Amino acid sequence: MASKDTVVGVGIIGLGGASGAMIPKFAKNPHYKLAAAGDIDEEILGRFHKDYPETEVFTDAAGLVACKDVDLVYIATPTKFHTEHARMALDAKKHVLIEKPMTVDIAGAQEMIATAERNGVLLGVNVKHSFEPRVLRLRQMARDGELGRLRMINHWRFQDWLYRPRTPEELTPEVGGGILWRQGPHQFDIIRTIAGGMVRSLRGTADTWDPARRVPGAHAAFLDFEDGALATAVYSGYDHFDSRELVSLGVSPDRANHASARRELREAPNAEWEANAARDERYGGGRPGGSGSGAGFPSMGWIMGGPMIVSFDQGDVRLSEDGLTVYGDEKIYEIPLGEKGKDGRDGRIESYYEAIAHDRPLPADGSWGLATLEVLLAIEESGRERKEIFLHHQTPTVD
Ligand SMILES: NC(=O)c1ccc[n+]([C@@H]2O[C@H](COP(=O)([O-])OP(=O)(O)OC[C@H]3O[C@@H](n4cnc5c(N)ncnc54)[C@H](O)[C@@H]3O)[C@@H](O)[C@H]2O)c1
Repeated sequence: MASKDTVVGVGIIGLGGASGAMIPKFAKNPHYKLAAAGDIDEEILGRFHKDYPETEVFTDAAGLVACKDVDLVYIATPTKFHTEHARMALDAKKHVLIEKPMTVDIAGAQEMIATAERNGVLLGVNVKHSFEPRVLRLRQMARDGELGRLRMINHWRFQDWLYRPRTPEELTPEVGGGILWRQGPHQFDIIRTIAGGMVRSLRGTADTWDPARRVPGAHAAFLDFEDGALATAVYSGYDHFDSRELVSLGVSPDRANHASARRELREAPNAEWEANAARDERYGGGRPGGSGSGAGFPSMGWIMGGPMIVSFDQGDVRLSEDGLTVYGDEKIYEIPLGEKGKDGRDGRIESYYEAIAHDRPLPADGSWGLATLEVLLAIEESGRERKEIFLHHQTPTVD
């Protein structure tokens, strides 16, 4: 299907929180056509069908992957179903865009990659924030040496993730729950993207501090790249500090609303409240989810949730609201970027379209997703063993 007029038919499995933000992107992009959706929850499926009556809907993944109008299957079911749903879609000879993390073990990821190769179709991972224009521009700077060599990336994020309404899966470590597996795929993918991908070794840990929420709620890691660049990454979801305070310059935290996620959970009327509130974040529900909620800060997207400073020989660069601010050898200057209303999701689906329609290399493919997955596993191992872990499945960026 290599024509400039190609329109890619999209089928979605899983109409939850992840899909909610992706569906409008597919719907608006002229290179794609929403063709079908599948979900085991008929009420949510009904809401989708009301909004997109021209699509076909299915109550199981098997029906969706068999749909003839579907060329690309976007898999946004809970992580524990990813290998099964990917196998079904790939064996049906559909391209696959899979939510992050692609799965939770190396063998599962390798199986997905082999299945895609065997069937002659593409497998991409939806690490959408790594396609954000500011992240891609930082990668370009590192690759082209615009400010000399990349030396260091430091990223911090503190927020209320652990106490916002969570699904049982999000609170179960074995199936990809907790902050490392739910938020780490973005944080470490962005860092790998800017630095070119090749992590040599790391030291890190992910820990559970609150016995009432038995899943890791914070992590910290130090990454050493093959070319000598370094990165540190810190993340806490314990709803104390909100690191948007450090990027929303001039905006003070709303003290009256401090720790509102923790308070809401504590004051929940019954045991079902959390499950219902988490369900309300699925397609067509009323409750806002994601990285923009809470504490009176403006919503500026995932990557502005905390400070990231990228250091080169000739300057430090930080993300600003509309682009990048460079603190160079001689002066401070702005690099404006991005089109209003466009974010990394647009970049992810555009780059996927280029691969399907024009045979361009697919960035963030299965092997890239496996390499980020290896980083997460290595942080767990490093924390358990309290030692440096060397990595063996890293892959470079498609530049
Ligand atoms: N919540 C987010 O904002 C977000 C963002 C990015 C990525 N992700 C990733 O996306 C995946 C899904 O997370 P989520 O938070 O959207 O989950 P969710 O629980 O909100 O939604 C999952 C949806 O899949 C449906 N489903 C469950 N089992 C199914 C099956 N066997 N067949 C068909 N449909 C089924 C559920 O009914 C639900 O509507 C995870 O891998 C997660 O890491 C989530």
